[in-house]
Amino acid sequence: MAGDRFNALVLEQQDKKVSHALREIGVDDLPEGDVTVAVEYSTLNYKDGMVVNGIGNLVRNYPHVPGIDFAGTVEASASDRYKPGDKVVLTGWRVGEVHWGGYAQKARVKSDWLVKLPDRLSTKEAMAVGTAGFTAMLCVLALENHGLTPDAGTVLVTGAAGGVGSVAVSILAKLGYTVAASTGRPEEHDYLKSLGAAEIVERATLSEYSGRPLDKELWAGCVDTVGSTTLASVLTQLKYGRSVAACGLAGGPKLETTVIPFLLRGVNLLGIDSVMQPYENRVKTWQRIATDLPHEKLAAMTEVCGLSAVAEAAGRILQGKIRGRLVIDVNA
Ligand SMILES: NC(=O)c1ccc[n+]([C@@H]2O[C@H](COP(=O)([O-])OP(=O)(O)OC[C@H]3O[C@@H](n4cnc5c(N)ncnc54)[C@H](OP(=O)(O)O)[C@@H]3O)[C@@H](O)[C@H]2O)c1
Repeated sequence: MAGDRFNALVLEQQDKKVSHALREIGVDDLPEGDVTVAVEYSTLNYKDGMVVNGIGNLVRNYPHVPGIDFAGTVEASASDRYKPGDKVVLTGWRVGEVHWGGYAQKARVKSDWLVKLPDRLSTKEAMAVGTAGFTAMLCVLALENHGLTPDAGTVLVTGAAGGVGSVAVSILAKLGYTVAASTGRPEEHDYLKSLGAAEIVERATLSEYSGRPLDKELWAGCVDTVGSTTLASVLTQLKYGRSVAACGLAGGPKLETTVIPFLLRGVNLLGIDSVMQPYENRVKTWQRIATDLPHEKLAAMTEVCGLSAVAEAAGRILQGKIRGRLVIDVNA
């Protein structure tokens, strides 16, 4: 980094087509905010794949720096909460969509959006978790808040070899749950077992919705990252009074189902949003991540690449071809 110039992945839009380039930009180019962070790591999430490929109208203004999460060290702060040298993490608040994000060596943001890193997590580990892992933990917390305990039976994770799914499998296994992992990739069965899955469920058995209002009661809970017909199937297979935490739409946004599982089995559909979580919840969730996610499992599900590899990987994540978590080392 020469002077106050630094590298960023910049998106431009022309004739409704989004292009990307690695550029040198300056601190003065950064958007307003009361904390400037020297970014160390970001990650690639499904939403980043959409933003980099110009899908879903998530970005309001171009030029734009994507990256919906980052971890790094506070460089300058006008906030009482942070001082230079503090290690911080950011997920959500539409950073990387409406506000410039983490695919740059510096970011300037509102202090309210940041969380101090728990002592047990490095900036690299925090981004191995990233928005996907943070969301997985929110799902587990929501299921626990609705009474899930390890003795209730098997917990299903759908889209299990993806980012949210891999972290969910690891956390649930560490907490003593019996985990069934649903995947469409046979080559990832061993990987999922290494994360702690006791059982593999073929993706098609869930994505091909039977249309029956109720099926055999199989699951004590579910973390669903897929939505669509998969979520419809899960609702018909939940045990009496049990819950599914629905956080994703990797299989599509539509949900066609019946109210019968709600009326006859008292099941719960818990919506999970990671973007607008209040500060206190974020702090609590990161603390739980620091204690409940085994570090060696996190390392096993993580690959690292530099900013120059983001665009290609952004295409792959939309095709469901990224395994686990991809960390972006913005200084590589
Ligand atoms: N609510 C929130 O705040 C929040 C936060 C983060 C992410 N999300 C959402 O959660 C979902 C997962 O995110 P991620 O970062 O884990 O993405 P990811 O790494 O791409 O994982 C998604 C997984 O879904 C499965 N999948 C892909 N296409 C599918 C299809 N057509 N039908 C059935 N399964 C399919 C694949 O798992 P297998 O290969 O194992 O089958 C894939 O690895 C995304 O929809 C994302 O937008 C929501």
